[in-house]
Amino acid sequence: MKKIVILTGATGGLGREFLKQILKEEVDEVWSIARNSQKLLELQKEYGHKVIPVSADLSDIKGIQQIKELLQEKKPLVAYLINNAGSAKMGKYSDFSIEEIDRTVNLNCKAPVMLTQLCIPYMGKGSKILNISSASAFQPNPYINLYAASKAFGKNYSRALNVELEGTGITSMAVCPGWVDTELLPKEINGKKVRYPGLVTAERVVRQAIRDAKKGKDMSVCSLYVKCQHLNVKLLPQRLVMKIWMAGIGKYLGDN
Ligand SMILES: NC(=O)c1ccc[n+]([C@@H]2O[C@H](COP(=O)([O-])OP(=O)(O)OC[C@H]3O[C@@H](n4cnc5c(N)ncnc54)[C@H](OP(=O)(O)O)[C@@H]3O)[C@@H](O)[C@H]2O)c1
Repeated sequence: MKKIVILTGATGGLGREFLKQILKEEVDEVWSIARNSQKLLELQKEYGHKVIPVSADLSDIKGIQQIKELLQEKKPLVAYLINNAGSAKMGKYSDFSIEEIDRTVNLNCKAPVMLTQLCIPYMGKGSKILNISSASAFQPNPYINLYAASKAFGKNYSRALNVELEGTGITSMAVCPGWVDTELLPKEINGKKVRYPGLVTAERVVRQAIRDAKKGKDMSVCSLYVKCQHLNVKLLPQRLVMKIWMAGIGKYLGDN
């Protein structure tokens, strides 16, 4: 039986880093999932035969079915499920079409839950589920509201699942980084260069996440900056927390 990793969003900033670091573990294959098949083939070229490209749109139920069928056909041992694919759009509530809302919730909320449900029967003692959430899950965040709310969903789902899995040897952990230097973050908004406080590298987030998962933690927070943020939002009233957030992003909002 092959010991595998299922990694979604493998071609993005954090995904590529997860791929690089997880290949150092004793695993036979990394099923690397994203929509762009060309980029997946390039990953295979760069990292070798253990990388199995799986082109699937996880915001579509057909993409989830595709993974279900692969699991049924190959019957692997899933050592790691890394639910990393996600999309983020900043903007006012009215900037979102119904279709965008549907795709965002499908990708950021439904896909990780459905993949988790599909993978658990193929897991064993020591298997690990990593759900890439965000520090934005800690508080309500106007103007990245849908994204932040979707990440809060993932964090809570992941931690509660970890309790339900007690005694199985399988663990579930939410990874909650602050700003990470990847393509996801716009460099400019409304003509203004964006400064991301506490920005960290993908390498650091992933190194800490894998280390924390091995320790059996249910949440991974990688920098002192985010640890302080986490504590502050627990202590301060939520209205004040949102005011502080708005003071930070106000200059990028234009005529909203
Ligand atoms: N960067 C940050 O500051 C930050 C902070 C906290 C948390 N996060 C979270 O970390 C995760 C990875 O973010 P990142 O910064 O690495 O983003 P990224 O560079 O934009 O990569 C996103 C990845 O997801 C894939 N993807 C997007 N839509 C998909 C779909 N419908 N079906 C399947 N795959 C899809 C993309 O490939 P295709 O486009 O080819 O499908 C790509 O591989 C996300 O969940 C994000 O919310 C990021």
